[in-house]
Amino acid sequence: MTYMVAMLLTLFLAVCIGFARLSQAQSLAECQALTDHYLEKHHKEASPYTGSNLLYFLHVPRTAGRTFQSCLLKMGVPPALRCPKAYDHLRITNMSKPNCYLLSSHDDFSVVSMLPPDVAVLTQLRDPVDRFLSAYEFAVEVASRSLKRPRNYRRRVGRIATEDVWPWSYLVPFFAQDLQAKVPAAQAKVLPPGGVWSEMENKTGAYFFNRVTNQTKESLTEAEAAQGILPMLDSYDNELVMSLKDFAKHPIASELLHNGATFQVLGITNYSHWGDAGGFRACLLRYDHLRSQMLEVAKNRVQRFTHVGTTDRLHESAAAALVSMGLSVNSAAYSGGDEEVAGRRGVGVQHRQSGNGNAGPGGGDRAAVDDLSNRGLNSEAAAKLQLLAKLIREARRRLQNSQKELVDAQKSDSDPSIVKMLQDKVDSARNELIDAQERLASVRETLPANLGGAERADIGVSDLSVGHAARRRLLHEDAGASQQQQQQQQGSGTATGTADGATGAAGTTEGTAEGLGTADEMAEQRRRLASKVTLQTVDAFGYQLDLEYRKIPNTNVGMEFVRCANRAQERSTSRRDQSLAVLRTADGRHVTFSKATRRRIPQEVLDLIRSYNTMDTALHKVGLSLLDQRIAEQKAENLYQEVPKEEADPSLVARRMQRMQAARAGGKASGDELR
Ligand SMILES: *[C@@H]1O[C@H](CO)[C@@H](O)[C@H](O)[C@H]1NC(C)=O
Ligand SMILES: *[C@@H]1O[C@H](CO)[C@@H](O)[C@H](O)[C@H]1NC(C)=O
Ligand SMILES: *[C@@H]1O[C@H](CO)[C@@H](O)[C@H](O)[C@H]1NC(C)=O
Ligand SMILES: *[C@@H]1O[C@H](CO)[C@@H](O)[C@H](O)[C@H]1NC(C)=O
Repeated sequence: MTYMVAMLLTLFLAVCIGFARLSQAQSLAECQALTDHYLEKHHKEASPYTGSNLLYFLHVPRTAGRTFQSCLLKMGVPPALRCPKAYDHLRITNMSKPNCYLLSSHDDFSVVSMLPPDVAVLTQLRDPVDRFLSAYEFAVEVASRSLKRPRNYRRRVGRIATEDVWPWSYLVPFFAQDLQAKVPAAQAKVLPPGGVWSEMENKTGAYFFNRVTNQTKESLTEAEAAQGILPMLDSYDNELVMSLKDFAKHPIASELLHNGATFQVLGITNYSHWGDAGGFRACLLRYDHLRSQMLEVAKNRVQRFTHVGTTDRLHESAAAALVSMGLSVNSAAYSGGDEEVAGRRGVGVQHRQSGNGNAGPGGGDRAAVDDLSNRGLNSEAAAKLQLLAKLIREARRRLQNSQKELVDAQKSDSDPSIVKMLQDKVDSARNELIDAQERLASVRETLPANLGGAERADIGVSDLSVGHAARRRLLHEDAGASQQQQQQQQGSGTATGTADGATGAAGTTEGTAEGLGTADEMAEQRRRLASKVTLQTVDAFGYQLDLEYRKIPNTNVGMEFVRCANRAQERSTSRRDQSLAVLRTADGRHVTFSKATRRRIPQEVLDLIRSYNTMDTALHKVGLSLLDQRIAEQKAENLYQEVPKEEADPSLVARRMQRMQAARAGGKASGDELR
């Protein structure tokens, strides 16, 4: 009895706490104030690309952004111009004028205020239902690896793990926990002595399998069928893992995925540098009119991007992006690992000198690697890296919280001494974050180049020694500068911009950046710029860049893009199938993800996902029409050329043909591997 009362009390308390959290910053007045604050503060917009300013790739997770980044942007840009990878944290060494021209990360638009004033932005958008399915599948896949590592698995130290990269840093542990609770129970079920027949499916088609007798059959006799056949496992709704439908309804999906592209363009994701982003997202969920208002801000914002492509039209997007970057499919292609990047003072780039004298990426002394990768050392280093990445996340959260406190105090006209105190708190939180980042960078520095990071992650990361004091100073200068700018802006008020006519979403948006021209003016400006982009030949210090370094002979970026994208797709398909093989019930049926499995998802579930993603659905439409518009402009200028239809490598072509034939024979297509 007392137990019951205690239970009820606990429940009641939990509900109260939940409410308190939900109702935070949700009154209309407060939401209006947050909106005003947002519009005031987040006025910086993307600049046109000229060839000598920084190009930032705003990488929305699950938009094939990894392919876009490593097969297109990276291959088209000489190593000497690339910034160090920044997926775990920003690694720009000189914020005021970074000595590199291409930066990519999963940060949201709030990071743009930390980048140089004339930063240009690229992005890829995707239909939100596809993006959500892809995110679910990827999180389940990566989490399933934690369940049972393959026999030959070795942790690679010095690369960042998928689990270190937002939003996987939350989603992978979430699913890993779910799997750990469910999979062992599902596998412990006892089967009848003769076993049961289950319907299975592979790329060739459907068949029957009996796990106990270990038999496979194309068809069953009437007697066999009479014993009952287990239907094909529903990969999105089964006893092994949280169903797609439940995940779509779960708060973590709203926090990290639903409308995620729009939130990223607005700079208000869960990973935002703005401390009030969480409260502001809650406001948007609650008030329709604020949601429409901010959607218009996002639509206007992407029009200023140097490139907006879509995942469903990846090849056209790649071709259009090249033109926007002042390149063409016939431009040179470059190889070169992530350690060969700009920022090393001097001519061109140098080979990385690692501790034990290994050569660059991919090369290296096998024996030395084996010697060093004995389990103890590796897992110890991996654990250390993971801990440091966690400290960064925590420091980031503290910075966000203190920024929020400061903003609250400023909004409520608090005593100047309190504001000053909170400003100091923000500064020291920022220093803590930088310290944590430096510590991670320096631990990586001590590791041999070829002993990469924890898991061979979705996103590999290299390291670069950074000027600690310099970066710290510049971060502060930057913060100061943006405050000044903000104060100036407050006096001048904000202009009214015209919304995107091309999508029929006419109307005006208040409070977007000043000087935002009409769609026609912007198109005209892009036309002028597209034929005028001239790429850098000297670095920020005036040194000649070595543009021949790592150039791949007898090929071009269009050909290399197609080849690299196909290879990436094949690799991730086979890796996914391997990983998912452990998600198996006692009767032997297992989770698989492919176009065929996606086609069987009930419409009701797809509609549910769609209903959570109205902003992203609208933004994706804008992306499609922007892509059409820009391709038309580029064609009018005779600048647009398609990427090659097929890759040049005959063995790969042959293998793909085989697979396509097999797929046709079984009426099945291979899985959607666009990341
Ligand atoms: C950053 O870049 C600017 C402009 O090139 C330069 O004046 C400054 O010295 C650089 N700072 C550092 C720390 O390298
Ligand atoms: C699919 O399964 C059937 C029956 O086990 C088998 O004959 C066929 O080779 C398999 N196909 C593939 C592509 O694995
Ligand atoms: C089941 O049969 C396959 C061949 O059809 C064989 O490769 C496999 O080792 C068998 N597994 C067990 C557990 O007997
Ligand atoms: C981001 O989302 C995760 C998972 O829901 C949550 O634990 C975390 O507190 C969120 N962080 C911020 C800054 O909102």
